[in-house]
Amino acid sequence: MENIGVYIHIPFCLSRCYYCDFASSIANQEQIDRYVEAVVKEIKLLATQIKYHYIVDTVYIGGGTPSVLSAKQLGRIVFNLRKSLKCDIREFTVEVNPCSVDRTKITAYKRMGVTRVSIGVQTFNPEVAKAIGRKHTPEQAVQATKWVVESGLDCSVDAMLGLPNQSIEDVDEFVDIVQANGVTHVSAYMLKLEEGTAMYKAKQQGKLELPDEDATCDMYDRIKSRLEDIGFHRYEVSNFCRENKESRHNLKYWQCKPYVGVGLAAHSLIGNRRLYNPSDFDEYYTKIDQGKLAQRLEQKLSIEDMMSERIMLGLRMDNGMDIVGFNSDFDVDFLDTYRQKLQKVQQYLNISKERVSIKQEYMGVMNVIISELIF
Ligand SMILES: C[S@@+](CC[C@H](N)C(=O)[O-])C[C@H]1O[C@@H](n2cnc3c(N)ncnc32)[C@H](O)[C@@H]1O
Ligand code: SF4
Repeated sequence: MENIGVYIHIPFCLSRCYYCDFASSIANQEQIDRYVEAVVKEIKLLATQIKYHYIVDTVYIGGGTPSVLSAKQLGRIVFNLRKSLKCDIREFTVEVNPCSVDRTKITAYKRMGVTRVSIGVQTFNPEVAKAIGRKHTPEQAVQATKWVVESGLDCSVDAMLGLPNQSIEDVDEFVDIVQANGVTHVSAYMLKLEEGTAMYKAKQQGKLELPDEDATCDMYDRIKSRLEDIGFHRYEVSNFCRENKESRHNLKYWQCKPYVGVGLAAHSLIGNRRLYNPSDFDEYYTKIDQGKLAQRLEQKLSIEDMMSERIMLGLRMDNGMDIVGFNSDFDVDFLDTYRQKLQKVQQYLNISKERVSIKQEYMGVMNVIISELIF
């Protein structure tokens, strides 16, 4: 039996941040209960598809904001997941927002078997936080990290870079707080102005000033070097951690390992099939109420597609792509098949018989190097 990761999407938030276009909305308890029941039904339906082929080894409950669910609502999902699927869970992450989490919820997560909590912090600067529509104070964010660490769970925090009024000093403060509070994983994302968001509109109307690209890249370089100074390493372009604290679930995405998505707008990769759930509540509920899986086929990947994806995603990781696995999965000799293309970009790569990776100093032009290899 093969291992599989399960992603469960919780499409609710207490409020909408000005930059965010994730599938999420503000809901009342009744709507959340309705959703929890649909997710439970979907898990049971999925069991018929994957129970005899896969063992669940990682679980990631993300959003939106899973912590808007009560411990009882989340517990109901987790109970049914364990009951319906074959599980040997090695890593279990729940995403939380500092506004909707407290010590009791963290304790309940631990009892459910959660091993890792990922906190959406973005910034510890109150002015910057306000400018992007975050509702929590820096104190609430620090408190959330303390609860997680004190309860013995792994603590990850999200940082955003290139925000209005953000400076290098804010980045330094972020790393200081990470170090002082026992956080072991940081995801650092450069702001992407997504069409349709409040920040996108404000920018279009000339009402929003943002740090330019150079300033944002400086913030990225700073967070990377400061995190390295305190003993973290980068393992993927946006992800840094202490030794052995990589997100096993997220590694599956970059290693093209199987994962199944449950809930609104969730994506799956099973074998050579990419599937996605509808992002419309009515459509999702209609399917589930009919006792059918809501998944739709997005793409049936050819061998060539799968090879390209494996290279494209593998090279996002600092230790690159596993050539031995590639050769055995596709029954080819990678170094031979890609000889000519590799020659064109070899000065940017570390190549051995086992792995190929992009040299640290060229990770910034990763996309150009990858394009040369796969097109
Ligand atoms: C689902 S949210 C995390 C949990 C929770 N919803 C919260 O925000 O507190 C996932 C992360 O994606 C990042 N993110 C969302 N929209 C982004 C954007 N437009 N640009 C860059 N990063 C973004 C943020 O760091 C955010 O914490
Ligand atoms: S960043 Fe998180 S809390 Fe803010 S709207 Fe997006 S999903 Fe919700």
